[in-house]
Amino acid sequence: MSQRRHPGSRPAGKPQKAKTALPKAPMTLTVSGLGAQGDGLARHGETPVFIAGALPGETVTVRASGKKGDGLAAELIAVETASAERVEPPCPHYSACGGCSLQHYAPAAEADWKRDILRQTLRARGLDPAVVEPVIRIGAGTRQRATFAWRRLRDRVVLGYNQRASHQITDLQTCLLLEAPLSALLPALRGLVAAVAPVGSMGDLSVTLTDSGADLCLDLPDYPGLEALEQIGLWAEAHAAARIGAQIDGVYHPLLTPRAPLVRFDGASVDLPPQMFLQPSRAGADALLAAVRAALTGTEGPLLDLFCGLGTFALPLAGDGRTVRGFDSESTAIAALSRAAKALKRPLTATVRDLFRDPVEGKELKDVTTVVLDPPRAGADAQCRALAEPAGASVRRVVMVSCSPATFARDARTLCDGGFRLMQVVPVDQFVWSPHLELVARFERG
Ligand SMILES: C[S@@+](CC[C@H](N)C(=O)[O-])C[C@H]1O[C@@H](n2cnc3c(N)ncnc32)[C@H](O)[C@@H]1O
Repeated sequence: MSQRRHPGSRPAGKPQKAKTALPKAPMTLTVSGLGAQGDGLARHGETPVFIAGALPGETVTVRASGKKGDGLAAELIAVETASAERVEPPCPHYSACGGCSLQHYAPAAEADWKRDILRQTLRARGLDPAVVEPVIRIGAGTRQRATFAWRRLRDRVVLGYNQRASHQITDLQTCLLLEAPLSALLPALRGLVAAVAPVGSMGDLSVTLTDSGADLCLDLPDYPGLEALEQIGLWAEAHAAARIGAQIDGVYHPLLTPRAPLVRFDGASVDLPPQMFLQPSRAGADALLAAVRAALTGTEGPLLDLFCGLGTFALPLAGDGRTVRGFDSESTAIAALSRAAKALKRPLTATVRDLFRDPVEGKELKDVTTVVLDPPRAGADAQCRALAEPAGASVRRVVMVSCSPATFARDARTLCDGGFRLMQVVPVDQFVWSPHLELVARFERG
């Protein structure tokens, strides 16, 4: 049974931290660098200060707005001396919207900063930062999917992204990150929510542009009634939607599927199961695939694709003539990938497997020489340990795709401790104007 405490009480015996009051007066500070989340970093005496919107080298006037870790968060009041790398943010919503935090940074400088963070993360694990290549930048206007927050008010619908550290929603008229047809759908998405969501409700709406039309999933408090279902049908027809589903109490319900949503990887079509992972942009997926193919140069024969998802890499690699064995925990993805491989007669088998609890290891790795893996943000701890074991000694090449430099560095350390060498890291930035970065790394053994 959980113990209940008065909200104001503290556990007995724990020393209380002295409360330091926030400085009330504006402060003029010099920004020395950018923190991992893209905030400008300065010092007020000994105290670190995190300033959203400030750039290295700038002198800024700020006001403390709260505590952040061991330091202070501060609101930018004025840039007194601007960095040469400061640019005019192109989006009209930039000052209010929490979707992007780095639009004021010149693209080349943003790319260099992300590369530096990646290099520091590798260095901290004793890995060679010199293997990091320049960043491949996937520009704005390329996102094929987005999740919007919405709130149904009495007279209108507010739909967009949450403001920074807030539940307030910026009512978006446009989003420069999105493919133009997805941004153009914003007014119609508001119309859909207005037609089916009760006044006072709120939730998320995820939209993916597929080859057969938009695939939508709308949070709803209850299963829609007949009138709402009719409105959904009219909306789907008017906007040539592929599928509309609802998430009710955390459970997905398909409502209408005029056309099965299809996505394509290097020309190979696959059904998109509801709520399945998909790379955020087609251009990004192409860049990752090109980097994976390059990292496989010199290898031949069968390969494993671990965390294969719908087959972003597995299907094209099987199309290159490689025999591929894919593994992923999502049964709907494995079913869709297996169907696509069969229809295309590609040498690919796909298996449902939880690689965190049950990595491919021991005798199963006998005779495996090449492995591609693309884990979620949590990384592939157990799987990399298995590859690093003596039983995995036949594996000579590992190509790892990662969306988290921190867990990548941890797993890379495990592989290197098991006899691999980190040869190359290609950073791919599918998340411009945010601190996120993906990468493709090549490891060789022996
Ligand atoms: C970053 S996605 C990559 C998918 C695919 N490679 C792609 O590019 O589309 C990570 C994948 O890991 C899968 N996954 C998450 N946890 C897993 C686990 N414990 N075991 C196996 N697969 C898992 C997800 O279903 C997802 O497909």
